[in-house]
Amino acid sequence: MPKRLYVKTYGCQMNVYDSARMAEALAPLGYVPVAEPDTADMVILNTCHIREKAAEKVYSELGRLARLKRGRAAEGHRLMIAVSGCVAQAEGEEVMRRAPSVDMVLGPQAYHRLPEMVAKVVRNSGGVIETEFPPESKFDHLPEETLVDIDGRGVSSFLTIQEGCDRFCTFCVVPYTRGAESSRPVGAIEAEARRLVALGARELTLLGQNVNAYHGLDEAGTATSLADLMRRLADVDGLWRLRYMTSHPLDMTDDLIAAHRDNDAVMPFLHLPVQSGSDRILDAMNRRHSADDYRRLIDRMRAARPDIALSSDFIIGYPGETEKDLAATLALIDEIGFAQAYSFNYSPRPGTPAAMLPNQVPDAVKRDRLAQVNAKLNAQMLAFNRALEGRRMAVLFERPGRRAGHLVGRTPYGPWAHVEAPGAMIGAVAEVEIENAALNSLTGRLAAKTVMAAHYADARA
Ligand code: SAH
Ligand code: SF4
Ligand code: F3S
Repeated sequence: MPKRLYVKTYGCQMNVYDSARMAEALAPLGYVPVAEPDTADMVILNTCHIREKAAEKVYSELGRLARLKRGRAAEGHRLMIAVSGCVAQAEGEEVMRRAPSVDMVLGPQAYHRLPEMVAKVVRNSGGVIETEFPPESKFDHLPEETLVDIDGRGVSSFLTIQEGCDRFCTFCVVPYTRGAESSRPVGAIEAEARRLVALGARELTLLGQNVNAYHGLDEAGTATSLADLMRRLADVDGLWRLRYMTSHPLDMTDDLIAAHRDNDAVMPFLHLPVQSGSDRILDAMNRRHSADDYRRLIDRMRAARPDIALSSDFIIGYPGETEKDLAATLALIDEIGFAQAYSFNYSPRPGTPAAMLPNQVPDAVKRDRLAQVNAKLNAQMLAFNRALEGRRMAVLFERPGRRAGHLVGRTPYGPWAHVEAPGAMIGAVAEVEIENAALNSLTGRLAAKTVMAAHYADARA
């Protein structure tokens, strides 16, 4: 009888990708993914440590799961609980101390060891922990992709090409939870891309904590840039669209900027976090660029690709942030004009240098400043979407919409469009006229029945 596996994913897209890979690693043991934990034989919480709230959510979920586990045990079933991801890496044994119902704790580099860990738990029913950074790469030991019907897979799929980070921004846990920066080889990525295309993918989002620092080796042993990798991937038959995230401004090289002009598969969208518009704060954060450097970079980006949709992350209330720093951030937002953005109140994280600083900003002040930033960003996002009204663009249909007879597809710029279209068009690109824009979505109508990938080139502004 198949065993039921419930995976709950927190945090970034890399965790979404990892969750799919863990589910695949467990498939040979008979585990099949299910959508609810209630009747599961194993639950994996794939966790995020980036902000305190994200980490605390995991413990409240573990409280609920402990009750479920007791209930299941009373019925004679065994529920195994695993905690993976960045909380697992950061807290290790502490997870089992705080939540004794947990059977396995495994860090992001140990997912290929999951089957062996399950076997150990079954054998001696004690807790098992894997949070060392193993010498072998998980990517060389995880089974090939087979799952289709799981988050992060489908017409648009995620593919992790780079992991870890060496930048050590003073607020950030990622260098500690994901380890040193490392790039997967070009050949392995291309092979995975081909398999994902065979499973139905037409668009890939290449993932990495610092994805534009990618420098994987090709077959000749030569370091390859992200732009060169995307040139290779654009030649894969059936793979039409490429995106990548998340990039650091310092690694935004000329060839990558040019790829947005020269490589038709690269979508006109860039997520490039700036975090703050104040040089004083950027310096304190160890971002190693100024607000003007960012402005110039955006100018170059727009020179290469005038219609590019820009996205960013902001941290509000970093220690020592003043009203003047906030004004600089608001001014930068005004000048750039973002199509998308994520803004967060600064959250002190254990072990990071900024958490130790004496001049923490009071919560109420942070919240008030974040509200000001969000008001501006939301207005810009809505303005960006509204400007698409009346325009025609190539939409890649991904899945059925909530309304019967409707599909959801992605515009080149990023926002999703809801369109009345036959189900057979899932996986196809068609020209859509955008009729209505809201903050988080668009509605449109099929402008032409012709279905082909090449439409993308015609849709350029
Ligand atoms: N590698 C990416 C970001 C990864 S973390 C980069 O260099 O930009 C995703 C986002 O979480 C960050 O961009 C940042 O805005 C936010 N973040 C990271 N640490 C945070 C903290 N301690 N408090 C609040 N937000 C944080
Ligand atoms: Fe964190 Fe990104 Fe800075 Fe790396 S570059 S430390 S992932 S914010
Ligand atoms: Fe969170 Fe780890 Fe991603 S801390 S944002 S899950 S890299």
